[in-house]
Amino acid sequence: MMSAPKLLSHWNDDALAGVWNAQKDKLKDLPQVTLQLRAASQLPAMDFYDCLAIVEYTSKAHYRASEKGWNEREKTLEMKTSRMLYILVRAAGEQFSTTLDTAGDIIGFISFMVDQDDPPRQDRRVIYIYEVHIGDNWRGKGLGKFLMFTVEAMAGMISINKTMLTVFMANQKAIKAYEKMGYTKDKSSPGVRRTRRRVVEPTYMIMSKVWREASGELIEDEAVEDQNGEDHNIGDQNIEDEFIEGEFMKG
Ligand SMILES: CC(C)(COP(=O)(O)OP(=O)(O)OC[C@H]1O[C@@H](n2cnc3c(N)ncnc32)[C@H](O)[C@@H]1OP(=O)(O)O)[C@@H](O)C(=O)NCCC(=O)NCCS
Repeated sequence: MMSAPKLLSHWNDDALAGVWNAQKDKLKDLPQVTLQLRAASQLPAMDFYDCLAIVEYTSKAHYRASEKGWNEREKTLEMKTSRMLYILVRAAGEQFSTTLDTAGDIIGFISFMVDQDDPPRQDRRVIYIYEVHIGDNWRGKGLGKFLMFTVEAMAGMISINKTMLTVFMANQKAIKAYEKMGYTKDKSSPGVRRTRRRVVEPTYMIMSKVWREASGELIEDEAVEDQNGEDHNIGDQNIEDEFIEGEFMKG
């Protein structure tokens, strides 16, 4: 899979500022923000713990209510995965004050990495969005959509046309927001499990968005299989990375 530094050699804070300038008129009543694109390994400890505190603040209850439970150590390890990238949204003079004592000027963030699709399409690369969180005071202003749109644009630049995420069923607000952003239930999402005694509803859903590369038009996942039916074997990662470099050059 492509490493974080490879992606970062083509995307940087200036590129993000460009996307921001093109989109900012669609955003409502937001303070002046600064965007930063960072690999997990480049996040200063303060920023990392702010992000962790934001996740804990917005989602701990959902984790606790699921079979997964809340495990800070596990979440920390996941968030520090070397291939993970972050877009931090900072607003001077603003504070996302969580109940924990780590509040800083980060008012939202999104984290994601290049990954493989789930079986049976594990030969296809996708961008998996791990976290997207906007502080209470800044929700509903288009910021979440902007971050998702930016990650989708980043995917498009490296010829990836599918983004995925996991959401707790209890988080209906987020599900509604993702639906508005064009996400639907992915085929790999778990279904209802039937045991001898009861029916167990899944506590989470995998959602995804697939679009046609050239036009950006949303399509059904099946159509992608028909369209890109040829083998995308990515067995030799070095060759794959070189191919990706070439793709970037075209842009
Ligand atoms: C889910 C979240 C990231 C959405 O970000 P946001 O900045 O509030 O959303 P936006 O303002 O960009 O809205 C995007 C679209 O979703 C819709 N939407 C947002 N919140 C919604 C809600 N609670 N109910 C219904 N629709 C909603 C908006 O109307 C908008 O639709 P439009 O494009 O048709 O206008 C944000 O609310 C959040 O951080 N929630 C808490 C953390 C969380 O649950 N994260 C998800 C973990 S999986």
